[in-house]
Amino acid sequence: MQTQMWTVDKNVDNLKTYPQINEAAQKLKQKEVVAFPTETVYGLGGNAKSDDAVLKIFEAKGRPGDNPLIIHIANREQINSFVKKVPENALRLMDAFWPGPLTLILEKKEGVLSEKATAGLSTVAVRMPDHPVALALLEASCLPLAAPSANLSGKPSPTTAAHVADDLTGRIAGIVDGGPTGVGLESTVVDCTSEIPTILRPGGVTKEQLEEVVGEVSADPALKDTNQAPKSPGMKYRHYAPNSPFYLVDGNREEIQQLVTEKRNEGLKVGVMTTKENSGFYDANVVIACGERGRLETVAEALYDTLRAFNQEDLDIIFGEIFPEQGVGQAIMNRLSKASGLPIIQK
Ligand code: TXA
Ligand code: MG
Repeated sequence: MQTQMWTVDKNVDNLKTYPQINEAAQKLKQKEVVAFPTETVYGLGGNAKSDDAVLKIFEAKGRPGDNPLIIHIANREQINSFVKKVPENALRLMDAFWPGPLTLILEKKEGVLSEKATAGLSTVAVRMPDHPVALALLEASCLPLAAPSANLSGKPSPTTAAHVADDLTGRIAGIVDGGPTGVGLESTVVDCTSEIPTILRPGGVTKEQLEEVVGEVSADPALKDTNQAPKSPGMKYRHYAPNSPFYLVDGNREEIQQLVTEKRNEGLKVGVMTTKENSGFYDANVVIACGERGRLETVAEALYDTLRAFNQEDLDIIFGEIFPEQGVGQAIMNRLSKASGLPIIQK
């Protein structure tokens, strides 16, 4: 399949009338799948009401069929057709964070969306993205769009159109290139079907921010205890994995350097994932700085590009620094733990 590339400037007025957006919307109406930027990561969109379109999404990504998709909308009225009721807490969260990096799990009205999009669950994940290109495409297509991150399943999520092209060229109808995304990590997924809203996946909106709006917020126990089954099906899969074994180290830079030196003395090629503050310190085969530790939002923004950059190198092992689990640090550590899939080395 030929994958078309449409380049758009996200800052121009009235994007939804642009020919590139209209061509992409036309493909969506024809039940083809198209990648587009959001403020978090690039999504791979398809008509959420069509089994054919949704199947194409799963096929292009190689995604397991039991992992439901987020339904993207451009205005709140769209929800009424496929959601049973919107509880008070959910309304307050929408008022505070939409459009934005927050996905809400709500009770689903049967018979409107493709069953494949929701993996047959009685609930549905909904989000209104805060990106002019995503909103223009949603409006131009007049569709709710099911859209997972536009990467091959298991790979780091894409934060540029080039990342999408690396993974999905030849597998999808097109890519709308609207430049790099902003937040860099996916949306926070919050279950609003329970009395107390529950975080199923940490992300762009922090627990602290949610609590300011709705008071008590809990977190799925499976986020901490890997023996429990996660409430969000996607959270059980290993994700974001670099090609070489990737160990997180709870230790200072001297201790990490010692591990690096030991492995290099064994003849291994060693990578280190650090931040700008420490990048001049390490002596390893490859050292990549992922943002600034002092500004965690820059670490979030650079995280997936950094994980992908390690895949360009032929390394035997990678060591990574850890981050405090506060604010966006919770989502960063969640993604890093998934990328590693190995116990943290305690120093
Ligand atoms: O920022 C984002 O959320 C991006 C952009 C493209 O919007 N999308 C994204 O989608 O990250 P995806 O498919 O990579 O992750 C969706 C997550 C998965 O963990 C999935 O299991 C969960 O949301 N999910 C979807 N529907 C659900 C439901 N009804 N109940 C629980 N979890 C659900
Ligand atoms: Mg994903």
